[in-house]
Amino acid sequence: MAAVPDHIRKKLAALGQEHLLRWAERFDDSMRQALFADIDAIEAGQLATLRAAMKPQASTNIPFTPFPFLELEDANFPYRLHRDAREATAHGETLLREGKVAALVVAGGEGTRLGFNRPKGFFPIYPVSGRCLFDGFAAQLRVIEKRFGRAVPWYVMTSRATHDATVKGFKEAKHYDLNPVNISFFTQGESPVLAPDGRLLPDASGRIVRSPDGHGGCIEALACSRMLDDMKKRGVEWIYYFQVDNAMERVCDPALVGVTASKDADVGVKVVRKQEPGEKVGVLVERDDHASVVEYTELSETQTNERDTQGRLRYCAGNTAIHVFRRSFLERVAGESLPWHAAFKAVPHMDEAGKIVTPSQPNAYKFERFIFDVFPRAKKLVALEVPRRRDFVPLKDASGPRSPEGVRKEMQAEWRAWLAHKGEKFDTDAPLEISPERWAETL
Ligand code: UTP
Repeated sequence: MAAVPDHIRKKLAALGQEHLLRWAERFDDSMRQALFADIDAIEAGQLATLRAAMKPQASTNIPFTPFPFLELEDANFPYRLHRDAREATAHGETLLREGKVAALVVAGGEGTRLGFNRPKGFFPIYPVSGRCLFDGFAAQLRVIEKRFGRAVPWYVMTSRATHDATVKGFKEAKHYDLNPVNISFFTQGESPVLAPDGRLLPDASGRIVRSPDGHGGCIEALACSRMLDDMKKRGVEWIYYFQVDNAMERVCDPALVGVTASKDADVGVKVVRKQEPGEKVGVLVERDDHASVVEYTELSETQTNERDTQGRLRYCAGNTAIHVFRRSFLERVAGESLPWHAAFKAVPHMDEAGKIVTPSQPNAYKFERFIFDVFPRAKKLVALEVPRRRDFVPLKDASGPRSPEGVRKEMQAEWRAWLAHKGEKFDTDAPLEISPERWAETL
């Protein structure tokens, strides 16, 4: 069996990770090589940063105020967006016609709460046909291509956990009738997982346990995988960012594209109005003259409950994670690092006896970067209020309102309201589905 190379011993000592030698002693050669390669790739500074992120973060004392957003003119069906957005929609359509818009979906998450055995994008969310999320997005892209005469390049971010299954699933689905030359897959980075005492853990194959580095990792991944260059070559100026679990995503919504571009902003954000003080949603605020998202936990009790003269919550711009980014803005910030956020999770790993442990309780920290941490770096950000049920119904959990059942209920409620408004008849008791192709007509 190969000895432990000197430089690995030294590195483990420097990193305070000598416990890994006890595992290495029992590994066969290939597992040892895998472990040593991973150790080689770890930077001391990186571990120190992650360890610091494990400590409770002192909340910044910089005061903030609500971020002004373009409010819905009518929050009831048929909704009316803010006038600026309605007027800018034609501009968004022009940008689509000129091929200046790309779609970017982040689909690297492990989807642990949902507990589906494939990447979340393949979840059969459509209530009658069983079509999946990816299928719904692709259908909208086909409608856009037909309407504007230009294909929208689609960038799909995966992670080590989801990449192979995602690429395979697209192939099996014949790329949902899109031209594969316009679909690019790229993989996000990873971060080592740490036990509460700062130790690295090995997995079943002897490698260091890692996890995807969060949706915020997409900026670095877009740059490293040369996707930003690819966009530039294709003439893309605006990137429409969305998350794979939004079942009511209006892909490349020209209203958001148009209002972001016409107001010359670096970033456009769809927000939904927070209704209840207790709602667990991050809200957009203005801090130090910049837009920023604060978690609901960062609002004081007074701020959480504060209302305006009309009785509406004062801090109410709920972040939907639907964004438009100026491509050159992401190029500018790609080299800057985003902060790490630690989350205590149940992480399977190999114990010292070589046994695989699958804990039911949290045992280690995973580290993620959040896409909205880039907001304060934008010269200008525009926030557009949209009707929640029409635009934002995320699939997150195995049960409850964000479960498949809860999501389908919301989708159908929205479709029924639409059909009723059009004066079309439908059976109120039967399951209902509006195909994504037809629904895209409402874009
Ligand atoms: P969530 O934060 O809801 O995580 O991701 P998740 O992985 O889907 O689910 P849980 O927490 O394990 O249950 C929101 C969006 O960000 C993407 C997800 O794929 C989803 O579209 N994401 C998240 C990534 O692309 N990479 C990540 O590292 C994390």
